[in-house]
Amino acid sequence: MKRWVLVCSLALVSLGASAQPAHRGIALTDLKSGTAFMSADLRTLQTDDGLNPASLWWLQGERLWHQPAPDAPACANCHGEASGRMAGVAARYPRVTQSGVALNLEAQINQCRTRHQKSPAWAYESEALLAMTAWLAKASRGELQEDAREAKSQLSHTASWQRGQAQYYQRIGQMNLACAHCHEQNWGRRLGGETLSQGHPVAYPAYRLEWQGVGSLHRRLRACFSGVRAEPPAFASQALMDLEVFLAWRASPLPLEAPGVRR
Ligand code: HEC
Ligand code: HEC
Repeated sequence: MKRWVLVCSLALVSLGASAQPAHRGIALTDLKSGTAFMSADLRTLQTDDGLNPASLWWLQGERLWHQPAPDAPACANCHGEASGRMAGVAARYPRVTQSGVALNLEAQINQCRTRHQKSPAWAYESEALLAMTAWLAKASRGELQEDAREAKSQLSHTASWQRGQAQYYQRIGQMNLACAHCHEQNWGRRLGGETLSQGHPVAYPAYRLEWQGVGSLHRRLRACFSGVRAEPPAFASQALMDLEVFLAWRASPLPLEAPGVRR
């Protein structure tokens, strides 16, 4: 009941002029990761590697990193240790290729699987793909380096970013709400049992207590679509890739916290 009252009052808020191009909607000085809205207990789970339940996934990712494919080298054979040249790689994703295709880290990993390991792509949301994404994210945690900041600011010059931004301000679902209603205009307020964050992607893939496991950013985004009673776009669909591009730009320069822990 309470939830509906808030949702109805949210729906009355006009988006007004917030849909200007290249306008972040939240001042840089107010930018906060979802972690800032969590309980101290959850924060400890996230920051203590020995306690973070996502460690089961990243350790599995580390094993896969060193495991050769049937007729091809292991990731490590071409790339060395993940903590070496791959450090920081996750912070430069998603990227948009010269031909305009939005590629997130999962898609890049699968490109190496098929192109360089002559092996089938890992299914989206499979344990292997989550494990590898978690492992590379872990190797990239922390403040964004200059190259990553620059890559994020360049995203706004792409058609993918423009489509993502349009989606972000588009009312959807039976509740007729846009992402911006919750995450730009009402962050810090309570909705149901949760405090609305600014909806940044920096902790994904993340271990969610509700999932009892690690899930991708696309899984989290699909939950937001379902939350407003809209049809969720498919995993790895262009719609979610475009949103991911816009969200990555919008969150910069927050540090990468993945793999995070969430309720
Ligand atoms: C035979 C060598 C080879 C193997 C094996 C290989 N890669 Fe790659 N990888 C490359 C090359 C070459 C690139 C440059 C871009 C491309 O071709 O996609 C690359 C690019 C990447 C990038 C992007 C780097 C960046 O700076 O943007 C990631 C991430 C990556 N590989 C992960 C993996 C993972 C995970 C595996 C194992 C599942 C793997 N690679 C296996 C050769 C390889
Ligand atoms: C009715 C309100 C509502 C709408 C509309 C909504 N979300 Fe969410 N979203 C939530 C809630 C609640 C959570 C979980 C708590 C939090 O982080 O805000 C969440 C979480 C998130 C997160 C994860 C943040 C984190 O740190 O874990 C992202 C990213 C996100 N939303 C993006 C979106 C996008 C993109 C849209 C539009 C397609 C959207 N949301 C629409 C309510 C909403």
